Amino acid sequence: MLRKTILYLSDQPKIFRFVKRNRLARGLARRFVAGETIDEAIEAVRQLNATGATASLDVLGESVYEEHEAQATVEQYLMLLDRIHAERLNSHVSLKLTALGLDVRKELCISNLSRIVERAALQDTFVRIDMEGSDYTEVTLEIFEQYMRPSFPGNVGIVLQSALRRTSQDVENAIRSGARVRLCKGAYKEPASIAYPDKSDVDEAYVRQMKRLLEMGNYPGLATHDETIITEARKFIAEKGISPDKFEFQMLHGIRRDLQEQLVRDGMNLRVYVPFGTQWYPYLMRRLAERPANLAFMTGSIVREIVRGKR
Ligand code: FDA
Repeated sequence: MLRKTILYLSDQPKIFRFVKRNRLARGLARRFVAGETIDEAIEAVRQLNATGATASLDVLGESVYEEHEAQATVEQYLMLLDRIHAERLNSHVSLKLTALGLDVRKELCISNLSRIVERAALQDTFVRIDMEGSDYTEVTLEIFEQYMRPSFPGNVGIVLQSALRRTSQDVENAIRSGARVRLCKGAYKEPASIAYPDKSDVDEAYVRQMKRLLEMGNYPGLATHDETIITEARKFIAEKGISPDKFEFQMLHGIRRDLQEQLVRDGMNLRVYVPFGTQWYPYLMRRLAERPANLAFMTGSIVREIVRGKR
C-alpha cells in the first residue's frame, strides 16, 4: 500500500514543486543522483572507472509533452556522448523514450532516438533504452526491434522487467533475436492482471529469466542489488562454466556501494547507472518506493524543516 502511494506521488508535478524547495529532500536526492550538471555526472563516472567499474549515464527526465523539450534532451545526450568519447571514459548512456517525445509523436521519438544511437555507433558505444510503465512496454519493444536493432545491433539494448507476466516470453524472444537485455525487477506500479503482486513471485521469475539469459543471452546486464539473487547468479555460472566476462552486474548510483566494491574486487563486471539532472523527483520517488525506510527519513526531515521555518 505504502509503495503504491509513493509511486502515485511520483507522478504529481505539484508535489515536486514543493519537495524541490526542501533542502533535505534535495540532500536525499543527492544520495541517488550524481548532481544536476554534466560536469558532476562526468566526475562520478571518472571516479567509478578509477575503481574498476563502468557506468551508464542517464539524463533525468521523462514524460515530456513538448517537442522542444524532447529536442533539448537529445542535445544533452549528444553532448554527453561527445564528452564520454573525448575523455575516453568507460560509460554507456541510458534513456527513456518518453523523454524523447514518445507521448508527443512516435515518429518524433524514433527520429530523436536514431540521432542518439547513430552518434553512439560512430563512437562505438552503447545506448540502453530503459523500460518505463507497462503502457509503454509494447511500443518500446517495437521501436527497439523494428527501428533500432536492425541497423545498430551492437549499439542498442533493451530492458525487461521480471514483475511483468509477459517477460518470460520476451526473454525467449530476445534470446532468439540476439538482443542485448538488461534484466530488472521493475520499478512501476502495475495491475495484478499483468504483473505479479507478490514480491516472492517477482524474485522467482527474475532468477528463472536470469538463468536463461546467462546460458543463452547476448551479454546480459543483471540489474539488481538483491544479494540472494547475486549469490545465485555466481553459483549458477560456476556450475555451468560460464565465464564472468559473458555478462555484467548492474547497480544504481548510491545503492549498496559495499556490494558494488565487493563484486569488482571479485573480478565481476559491474556497471553503475548514474542519473543526473534537475528532473530528479520521479526517480527519487521510485527509489523511495523500493525502500520505504528512506521515505520515513525524508518525511521527518521535511517536517523538521517546516517546523524550524515557522519558529
Ligand atoms: P529489491 O528491491 O528486492 O532490493 C534488494 C536489496 O537492495 C534491498 O534489500 C536493499 O538492500 C537494496 N535496495 C534496493 N533498492 C534500494 C533503494 N531504493 N534504497 C536503498 N536500498 C535499496 N526499473 C525499471 O522499471 N526500468 C528500468 O529501466 C530500470 N533500470 C534499472 C537499471 C539498473 C542498473 C538497476 C539496478 C535497476 C533498474 N531498475 C529499473 C529498477 C529495478 O526495477 C528495481 O526497482 C530496483 O533495482 C530494486 O530492485 P532490486 O533488484 O535491487 O531488489
